[in-house]
Amino acid sequence: MGFDLQLWETALESGNRYTYLPKYLHIFESVPSTNQTLWDLLKQGADKNSIVIATQQTAGRGQWGRQWISPTGGLYLSVGIVPKLEATDSYQLTLASAWGIAAQLRQCGVSVGIKWPNDLVLYGRKLGGILTETKVHNGQIIQAVIGVGINWANPVPDTGINLETWQASQPTKAISCLEMLTNTVVLGIESGIDCLCQEGVSVLLSRYLDLLINIGDQVYINNLLGTVVGVTSQGNLHVSLETYDSTEIKTPEIYVEPGTISLGYSKSSVLL
Ligand code: BTN
Repeated sequence: MGFDLQLWETALESGNRYTYLPKYLHIFESVPSTNQTLWDLLKQGADKNSIVIATQQTAGRGQWGRQWISPTGGLYLSVGIVPKLEATDSYQLTLASAWGIAAQLRQCGVSVGIKWPNDLVLYGRKLGGILTETKVHNGQIIQAVIGVGINWANPVPDTGINLETWQASQPTKAISCLEMLTNTVVLGIESGIDCLCQEGVSVLLSRYLDLLINIGDQVYINNLLGTVVGVTSQGNLHVSLETYDSTEIKTPEIYVEPGTISLGYSKSSVLL
């Protein structure tokens, strides 16, 4: 069940065409990690906008050093881009990609939401995730690799969902194959990065927040109860804490970095 270039071309012909992606497509049966393979190819002189796709990964990388289990049937894709961004804004690439992919899937009738900061969720379960890696020089990003894993037909844990199975229960199936999903995801990344670069981070953030499932969630931080009210342009979670003294309720604002707390998948199961 390898990636079928012919089907990808058919999907390209029937849908939107890319404006600048993909320049060069590298397709593999099995690699340790498509992100790592793309970095290796870049080192060997590959085009900076190259794309790597693999049928499976043997050492897929997740956020915060986690493993991304990557059996055949899933989508494993890495896209190279050269954004004009400072290193301190690198998280914007993840926000942009998450929004772009979710929005593109929604156009196909797949009601995907975003779980802060980088999860794509469908019916309260994890459909996919994004791992952005960057190379920085003098405080500027000189190369970024955006890695995306989406559950298409691969087995998933209890908190996960795969798109092929979900679509089987739907009246219409807008995404008919892995290659069409790949096309949708690449278009999504491109539209997200376009939005960030052309319209700016404020526009991007307001679109990202429209699809964020966590607004209004209650979270405990250092034993204090708070409510999720937004996400900053650096990707931090904005939480209003409720504190009481003898006379009044105060609501100090705090900003939580990605990776420091984990939000649950349903509204009622927010974790510490
Ligand atoms: C997450 O932890 O949610 C992010 C997972 C990102 C996985 C993708 S699969 C393709 C690319 N190559 C990798 O090694 N990781 C990313």
